[in-house]
Amino acid sequence: MTDRSIRDEGIPTMTPRPLPPVLVLGTSGLGSGDEDAALETALSLLRSGLLIDTSHNYSGGASERTLGVALATLAPNERSSAAARILTKVDRDPETGRFDADRVLRSAEESLGRLGVDAVPLLHLHDPYVVTVRDALAPGGAVSGLVRLREEGVAASIGIAAGPAPLVQRYVDSGLFDAVLCHNRYTLVDRSAAPLFEDARRRGMRVFNAAPFGGDLLARGPRPGARYHYRSASDELRGWTAGAEAVCLRHGVSLPAVALTISLHADVVDATVVGVSSPARLEALLGLADTTIPEAVWAELDALGPAPSPIDDSRYGDDA
Ligand SMILES: NC(=O)c1ccc[n+]([C@@H]2O[C@H](COP(=O)([O-])OP(=O)(O)OC[C@H]3O[C@@H](n4cnc5c(N)ncnc54)[C@H](OP(=O)(O)O)[C@@H]3O)[C@@H](O)[C@H]2O)c1
Repeated sequence: MTDRSIRDEGIPTMTPRPLPPVLVLGTSGLGSGDEDAALETALSLLRSGLLIDTSHNYSGGASERTLGVALATLAPNERSSAAARILTKVDRDPETGRFDADRVLRSAEESLGRLGVDAVPLLHLHDPYVVTVRDALAPGGAVSGLVRLREEGVAASIGIAAGPAPLVQRYVDSGLFDAVLCHNRYTLVDRSAAPLFEDARRRGMRVFNAAPFGGDLLARGPRPGARYHYRSASDELRGWTAGAEAVCLRHGVSLPAVALTISLHADVVDATVVGVSSPARLEALLGLADTTIPEAVWAELDALGPAPSPIDDSRYGDDA
């Protein structure tokens, strides 16, 4: 792990490695609450110089809409540079669940309209759980829609973004994608995405690791009610995390700073996607990302043994 600058402004096209660590600002909750506060948050994200991760279905479309409204208030030169840092995803039809090529084209068209842009640097296929991999990859399937959007220049690159690593691996195996995003599976308490990420890197794909705090536990700590992977964390997991937090505090660093560093400086991760809900959270995140972790922390964390991760992707077999 090295201490390199996180303020990289590169966009996720196929660029030569090695790349510096990249922080990506996640917006899955943007626009779900107070509109003015959301707009203020969106402006702070757009002005950060960092990449922004959104999706067609985040906050029922309000994430993209808020980013689009905020973008429109920027001066033209600021707007084009900020627009070039917004990455989004295509989603299934929220009413019918349809997720084929036509739906992908419609989803992308709606996203571009909300954002007020003609193209995006990266467009992911998002959470394709309602279709089998075989159907998604068949002619007329969702992936053919994405490939067409890349051919037409609407997306400079395309990715697969989902949770279960074995499922994501099957999309990676198709050889059709430029990027991969997986979440909650490369963190302080779970590294099950490591083989997927290594394979994707060998193929020259750009690797995005999302949710380095597990959505909660590793940001706020192992208090009662803490959650990991959007579910209640078990007593065992909270107990293990309390031990890890004690190691961090003994060395004068916080649990979230260590959790973030694990992803931000991992050799197999190009970009780390963290949820940011306010300008204050953004400032705190930049502070965490700039923390240097004493070497002794890693050995003491190793000595705790494997964490009791709740992630079990074993049911994602061959025909998932
Ligand atoms: N399938 C997919 O494509 C997929 C799936 C999951 C995630 N993602 C992307 O990855 C992003 C990150 O995922 P995530 O937001 O679920 O997980 P995360 O980044 O691991 O955790 C974000 C959570 O940590 C909290 N937090 C952050 N900094 C904190 C601090 N300094 N003090 C206390 N709490 C803090 C936030 O609380 P507050 O809300 O209070 O700020 C938020 O609830 C998403 O926004 C999305 O863009 C993509």
